[in-house]
Formats: sequence, structure tokens, C-alpha cells
Amino acid sequence: MRIPVRTLPQICLLSILLSLPSTARCAELKVSTLGVAPHKVASYLHSVIEANRTIYSQYLVDRLKETVKLNATENWEEAHTLPLPAQFLAMSADRVRSQNLGLQYRLISLWPINPENGPESNIEEKALKKISKPSETPFAWIDESKGDLTFNTLYPDRAITRQCTICHNNHPDSGKKDFKMGDVMGGILVRFPIHSANDGRNTYFYVPPETAADYIHAILEADRAVYAKHVVHRLEKNKVSYASANWWEDNALLLPAQFLLNASDLIQNLRLGFHYRLISLWPVNPHNGPGNKFERLGLKALAQSPVHPYKRTLLSGNREFFQAMYPDRATTPSCVKCHNAHPESPRHNFRLFDVMGAIVVSIPLDREEELVSFAPEE
Ligand code: HEC
Ligand code: HEC
Repeated sequence: MRIPVRTLPQICLLSILLSLPSTARCAELKVSTLGVAPHKVASYLHSVIEANRTIYSQYLVDRLKETVKLNATENWEEAHTLPLPAQFLAMSADRVRSQNLGLQYRLISLWPINPENGPESNIEEKALKKISKPSETPFAWIDESKGDLTFNTLYPDRAITRQCTICHNNHPDSGKKDFKMGDVMGGILVRFPIHSANDGRNTYFYVPPETAADYIHAILEADRAVYAKHVVHRLEKNKVSYASANWWEDNALLLPAQFLLNASDLIQNLRLGFHYRLISLWPVNPHNGPGNKFERLGLKALAQSPVHPYKRTLLSGNREFFQAMYPDRATTPSCVKCHNAHPESPRHNFRLFDVMGAIVVSIPLDREEELVSFAPEE
């Protein structure tokens, strides 16, 4: 069954009280929100995927080809080159899928180089046609199967650098050879499970805040791990390139932290309301130290027991925010090597897989009247 997305006039009756996690610092605060509206969660997830895709394409693929003739190629592993942007995305999407959160995303197109990237259903094909028109907004729909609801959103994927068009237009398997800069080349399809609640009149669809934060973190973590492992560590090991804080002047790779922070800046500019930070009790850059008591306590808690995220709900202005901190681990030897050797680092005995810091995700919560509700198709 498919339910078309339709916004109903605002009605708020029901307050479902969210039971707050015991780690929340303001545990007495009653939250009269269900969570986050699915279309907002989708926009947060897409902004992270796209920001990382943009950083990767512009600051790595395009720049390193021009400055040091380091190419992105399909056989990147054997050729000691950079993975293609589409391969980078697919690797992190695989990593996210393997976490079993139900979150999935992939690149699809009406003119795929790889036939597996074509639309898998009529609705995907319809969505691709819709978003290919200029100034079209993302296309969203809900799938229902045995009572489980999945929210789907397809966002246009545009030719943001010249390499996108050059490579696709010249690829023998490409279904289209006249892409121009700015063209929609395909779409990023983001899918995740959602919940519903009924107040007798309307059905509200939402994602619990913990789940929304888990989704965002899963993508950040996956892109960070893929970048550290398949780009930085591999190219350093093969002496092809290296990560440097002065990556621009050195024609080198961005540090993993810079990759994450540059993407975070792109997302801030979109003013979606959610944000994230990379912090540590032993920061190389003092700016990345804990900024408040919550962050300090969270970093200590995660250093001791990095199993569950450290969370809280807080009121800022007249808006409630949910914050979750996730451990940031030394996933490759290059994390450890660089931090231990760094003159500004306050700690020099990190080992592989140690918790080196944390990613803090903050999401604004939606009031009932802001949750989009949906009505079944007549
Ligand atoms: C050096 C070549 C190259 C570059 C640069 C490149 N692509 Fe691709 N792209 C490919 C290949 C090859 C695939 C198929 C990968 C696979 O096997 O799934 C692909 C896949 C895709 C897909 C999925 C549909 C398909 O064609 O299989 C989209 C959409 C896409 N690329 C868009 C872009 C955009 C946007 C950019 C610039 C940010 C870009 N590509 C840069 C070669 C390239
Ligand atoms: C080549 C050196 C290098 C590598 C490799 C590297 N880092 Fe860093 N890292 C830095 C520098 C320099 C900063 C400070 C960046 C800034 O100015 O914000 C930093 C920042 C951080 C921070 C924020 C706190 C702080 O120290 O400022 C964390 C957490 C972190 N890195 C963890 C990691 C992890 C985990 C990896 C591997 C996935 C890694 N780093 C790989 C050099 C490196």
C-alpha cells in the first residue's frame, strides 16, 4: 500500500509523554512531543549524505586530479586511486545498512552506468521523473507492509563538479552523454522506518528522537570510517598521498576531522536546525574540548562505557532539543599514529579502537502541530 504525503491543517490534541532516558540530565522535563517529523529527518539525513558527497567530490576528487593528477577510478583498490563518488556513497550506505537500523540509502538514475542503479519500482521511476524537472522539490512517499511503515524520499543528485559530467558523458555504459553542469543526473533515495500515533481524528507520523539521532550518527560514522580506511589509511600506506591539516596548501588529503567539520559547515549554512560537533577530552585543537557540563560528563561516561550513547533533552529558547553523544573510536592505525605524534595533542598513548572523543548530535524536536499528518488516499 502507498500513502501519498499530504499536510493537514494543524490540529493538536494529544500529548504523548515521552519517557526520557535515565542518562538525561533534565529527566523531570516532560516532553509533549512525539519526536521528529519524517520529512525533517529525511532532510537532515540527506543534508549529511550530500554534504559529505560534495566535500568528497570537490575537495578530493576534483582538486587532487587537477593539482597532483590523482584520479578517481572504478578499480581504485588495485590502481591506488580514489574511489568514485558513487562508490564512496555505496560503501558507506553498506556500512549503515549493516547496522540494522532499517535506514537505507542509494543512488539511482534513469540513465545509469550500472544497471543495478536503475529504478527498482514504478514509484521510484515516477519519483526520478518528478525530481528531474527544474526546481522540483524532493519526492516523498510511504510504503506500508504488514503494518510496518517506511518513509521514502528521493532528492535530486546534481552535477556539482565538471568531473561528474566529463566522466559520465564519456563512459561507454552511460545512458546519457549530454549532461551539463547543474543537471540532475539521478537521485539519492533515503528510506527509513517511521512510527504512527492516532488521536481519533488524525494519524501523526514521526521518528522518535533517539532513532533520528542514531540515523544521523550512523551516516556520519560510516562516511568517517570509509574516508579514514579507504582513502586516508590506504593512500598513506601506499605512499600515494597523506592527510595534512594544511591539506589545501599541501595538495593533500583532508584530515578525517576536517572532512567531518567541513561537511558540518555546509549543513549549518542550510539552517535546518540540527547540528553536530566532534569533541574530545584530549583535543588537539582546544576548540574541540567539551563546551559544557553535559559534554564533559558525556565524554567521561563514554570513555568508561562506550556501549550506549549519552543523551539529554534540553530547552533552548522556546524549542526543545534532543542531544546524543556517540563514541568516536580510533578505527584505523592512522588515527592513533597521527594523534600520538601530534605536538599539540595532550595525550600520546592512544591505541587502535580506543575511544578518542565523541560526536555530539543535536536535533530540534517538533511540536504536535508541526508534525505532518497524512490521510489515506481516497
Ligand atoms: C571518474 C568517473 C566518475 C565521476 C567523476 C563521477 N561518476 Fe557517477 N558514476 C560513475 C560510475 C562508473 C558509476 C557506476 C558505479 C557503480 O558501479 O555503481 C557512477 C554512478 C553514478 C550514479 C548512479 C547511477 C549510475 O550511473 O550508475 C549517479 C547518480 C552518479 N554517478 C552521479 C554522479 C555525480 C553527481 C558526480 C559528481 C559529483 C559523479 N557521478 C562523478 C563514474 C563517475
Ligand atoms: C594526519 C593526522 C590525523 C589523522 C590521521 C587523524 N586525526 Fe584526528 N585530528 C587531527 C587534528 C590536527 C585535529 C584537530 C583538527 C582541528 O583543528 O579541528 C584532529 C581532531 C580530532 C578530534 C576532535 C578533538 C581534537 O583532537 O581536536 C577527534 C575526536 C579526532 N581527531 C579523532 C580522530 C580519529 C578517530 C581518527 C581516525 C578515524 C583521526 N582523528 C585521524 C589529526 C589527525
